[in-house]
Amino acid sequence: MTEETVTSSEGSPQTPACRRLVGRTAVITGAGSGIGLATARRLAAEGAHVVCGDIDETAGKKAAEEVGGTFVKVDVTDAEQVEALFKTAYDTYGSVDVAFNNAGISPPDDDSILDTGLEAWKRVQEVNLTSVYLCCKAAIPYMRRQGKGSIINTASFVARMGAATSQISYTASKGGVLAMSRELGVQFAREGIRVNALCPGPVNTPLLQELFAKDPERAARRLVHIPVGRFAEAEELAAAVAFLASDDSSFVNATDFLVDGGISGAYVTPL
Ligand SMILES: NC(=O)c1ccc[n+]([C@@H]2O[C@H](COP(=O)([O-])OP(=O)(O)OC[C@H]3O[C@@H](n4cnc5c(N)ncnc54)[C@H](O)[C@@H]3O)[C@@H](O)[C@H]2O)c1
Repeated sequence: MTEETVTSSEGSPQTPACRRLVGRTAVITGAGSGIGLATARRLAAEGAHVVCGDIDETAGKKAAEEVGGTFVKVDVTDAEQVEALFKTAYDTYGSVDVAFNNAGISPPDDDSILDTGLEAWKRVQEVNLTSVYLCCKAAIPYMRRQGKGSIINTASFVARMGAATSQISYTASKGGVLAMSRELGVQFAREGIRVNALCPGPVNTPLLQELFAKDPERAARRLVHIPVGRFAEAEELAAAVAFLASDDSSFVNATDFLVDGGISGAYVTPL
């Protein structure tokens, strides 16, 4: 097994990666930024052909170029565009082995149930939950024909835990992703298809950094709940996705795969 060093966006070396995905084709939605981008880099470093789907043409193209993959402009709420995304993967590389259905939004007008209007509610449900339904519906027929495949749907730790700092539609959408992933994992298990929900804790993204730089109290209120004492790096999520995508996780199915620094296990955290 050959190894190489994966380099993060900041240029710091990460854990050496195995080449577990040589010859496999991975479709990633939301590949232009954050967790999706870090995962595109990681899966490519492990040998996969990566198809980068994103609504943002500039960011998506840049990601695809960097990892030597293919860019497909896609709005994940549109059934035809989602079908075209997976068809492009199959037509270009001959298989659809991994689907990382990851694109999602958390807009500011999704807040407490008392303040969140129906339009804001519906938009978040469409982008975060309906999209996962569409992507799974498009990916599964290819995987059934192959008798093999790994689907990873991005949920969140808030699918498991309540937050007084509510984003009501976001939380409900992620609960839906979790339940849908579990059911699909059970339904298609004997056809060689595994379906898992990835549940990240808060990730150190530029948006989060900006928000907390303006409001350190808000950052502290969240950090106190994390036993590890820091937010996750996108590369740490990418490493978990690479595991779930590979045969190393061959008996991991229909789970809520938490990568949350221990938040969901904590009662009192260290000072
Ligand atoms: N960042 C966190 O703290 C965190 C924590 C838990 C879960 N998540 C989830 O992880 C996933 C990725 O989050 P991130 O922080 O990397 O986000 P991000 O905003 O950095 O990236 C999301 C990407 O999705 C794309 N996108 C948005 N709407 C789209 C659409 N309709 N069609 C196609 N692409 C679209 C964006 O252009 C962007 O490139 C999301 O599902 C998010 O809910 C994030």
